[in-house]
Amino acid sequence: MLARAHPRGQRGLILGYAGLGGLHRAAVAVFGRSGNRAGDAALIEIEGLTKRFGTFTAVDRVSFTVPRGEVLGFLGPNGAGKSTTMRMLAGFVTPTEGTARVAGFDVQTRPVQARRELGFLPEGAPTYPDMTVIGFLGFCAGVRGYHGAARNRRVEQALALTGLEPVAVQPVETLSKGFKRRVGLAQALLHDPPVLVLDEPTDGLDPNQKHEVRTLIRRMAPEKAIVISTHILEEVDAVCTRAIVIAAGRIVADDTPAALERLHPSGRLDDVFRALTTKQAA
Ligand SMILES: Nc1ncnc2c1ncn2[C@@H]1O[C@H](COP(=O)(O)OP(=O)(O)OP(=O)(O)O)[C@@H](O)[C@H]1O
Ligand SMILES: [Mg+2]
Repeated sequence: MLARAHPRGQRGLILGYAGLGGLHRAAVAVFGRSGNRAGDAALIEIEGLTKRFGTFTAVDRVSFTVPRGEVLGFLGPNGAGKSTTMRMLAGFVTPTEGTARVAGFDVQTRPVQARRELGFLPEGAPTYPDMTVIGFLGFCAGVRGYHGAARNRRVEQALALTGLEPVAVQPVETLSKGFKRRVGLAQALLHDPPVLVLDEPTDGLDPNQKHEVRTLIRRMAPEKAIVISTHILEEVDAVCTRAIVIAAGRIVADDTPAALERLHPSGRLDDVFRALTTKQAA
């Protein structure tokens, strides 16, 4: 349950970034509380999570915990099992074995409570493409139990956080790839959950938006447990306090970005990544 501490304890956050964009200012307004609540128990607890599709094992006994204040980077080659793990954590895929808990709620046996505590950005574009952005977010807020003024406020905040105001009345299907991605992100942030699971949140964003979203993630980090998957290794240094590398469904490394970089004489994360993930494949 919630009493289990993270094996490494709390780590410091990576802050000290420059440039305060619109997202950051909006984040201050919405997530303006400060300070890492050191000592909080893990908000994400995964134990022996396994997914088999027929005889193929996509995720193989994956275990980890994420306390409040941590941004965990989930790395691994294509097909490594990142999205499948995240989808199991979000309750969208049933595990073959193992358990996942969000804020202490088992995603299989307490799905309603677990989903309330979680925002999930899946891979790809949001569903309901013919809705307008504001219509889609209003619908999501309604499903989350917000109505009237509270619903409008949630939608407005999510639009501001993700820079979607200029396209608010446009149908989602007519948006560019990066804007569609932002709609997915807005939907995940809508209810300000303590746990965020973001599958490639900066995929398809332009460099300015990548910067804005990373800034937003850092800004929210002290109050939340965040897992992001990414193929952009510099993103790990930019936002993550910890990184897990997964290859062929198994965890092959789990440490701070700085400690991972020390695993290779070059000190470069891409060399470490290659060594860890090609060794596994061999
Ligand atoms: N519904 C499914 N049926 C069969 N195989 C599946 C299914 N979903 C995922 N897989 C397989 O599981 C493996 C892991 O897929 P997953 O999408 O989790 O990888 P990933 O690490 O997210 O990769 P990427 O970096 O390309 O997003 C892949 O081999 C994939 O083909
Ligand atoms: Mg994936």
